[in-house]
Amino acid sequence: MYLLDCDTGVDDAVAILHLLGSGAPLAAVTVTFGNVSAAQAAENTLRVLHLAGRSDVPVAVGGESTLDGSPTRHSATLVHGANGLGGGALEPSPAALLDEAAPELIVRLAHEHAGELRIIATGGFTNLARALELDPAIAGLVREVTLMGGAALVPGNVTPSAEANIVADPLAAASVLGAGWPVVLVPLDVTMTHLIEHDDWQRLADAGGVAGSAAAVLDGYLDFYAGIIGRRCAAMHDALAVAIALGEIEPELAPRAHVEVDVTDGPGRGRTIADLRHRYRGYAPPVDSPVRVVLEARTPLVPSLVERILAF
Ligand code: RIB
Ligand code: CA
Repeated sequence: MYLLDCDTGVDDAVAILHLLGSGAPLAAVTVTFGNVSAAQAAENTLRVLHLAGRSDVPVAVGGESTLDGSPTRHSATLVHGANGLGGGALEPSPAALLDEAAPELIVRLAHEHAGELRIIATGGFTNLARALELDPAIAGLVREVTLMGGAALVPGNVTPSAEANIVADPLAAASVLGAGWPVVLVPLDVTMTHLIEHDDWQRLADAGGVAGSAAAVLDGYLDFYAGIIGRRCAAMHDALAVAIALGEIEPELAPRAHVEVDVTDGPGRGRTIADLRHRYRGYAPPVDSPVRVVLEARTPLVPSLVERILAF
């Protein structure tokens, strides 16, 4: 049983479609701030679920502040558009958010699906950290946590050090990475190697329907990446985390590592410090670390992603 925690932005929206299209059992979607406010991301999530004909999936929203109660410092409207869906106008959903807050829902589902719940997190990790505060025992109940976030051996994408989901709430990221539950960290090292290209986008746009709406959401995102990659394309960060969590893509390189987060206010804030020294001789591999860091996943994501969206 899966739970997705996201900050629906453009690639979260694609990840939701990829997850729904897999047919995997989805208990709920919880929503946090990051690309846009939690409230906007929640509205976006309802609309994407409605687009896919899955307004039945429960959605709960978390707070707008970080774990230490600070206002969020980060938003990515430049990347995801002012509404978080690239300006794409999806039809409003008839469904409403749960009254239950996201952290409480995570705790409840961890107990209801004890030993079976697999969490996929593609936004900041505040909801997960608050759930751990509410009930630390969930660390022993959740089967696996797949996190899209961090940068192990490559630069950050918000600062030279920090990736967006980590720097959205570094204290929350540190808590989630240090909780002791099994974590698969899917960082920029690997997500930036899975790009949707303009021709893929054109196929979606030409198809209309759900695929056409996905293309409308993706359009500005590809333009943003044209500025940093040099051609219309875009990293499918969140969909890759979903594919790895579902076991559809088996990473070639995902060593266990101790991962710390820089929570200072210096230039390294939000950096994920993965101890990968055991790649050299003489350093014992950290067999006791519950965290695996995906550094290489060569199975292509985008062909199956595009086919799955076209199939709606
Ligand atoms: O750094 C990329 C991540 O930050 C993705 O999850 C994107 O949606 C944003 O949340
Ligand atoms: Ca995201």
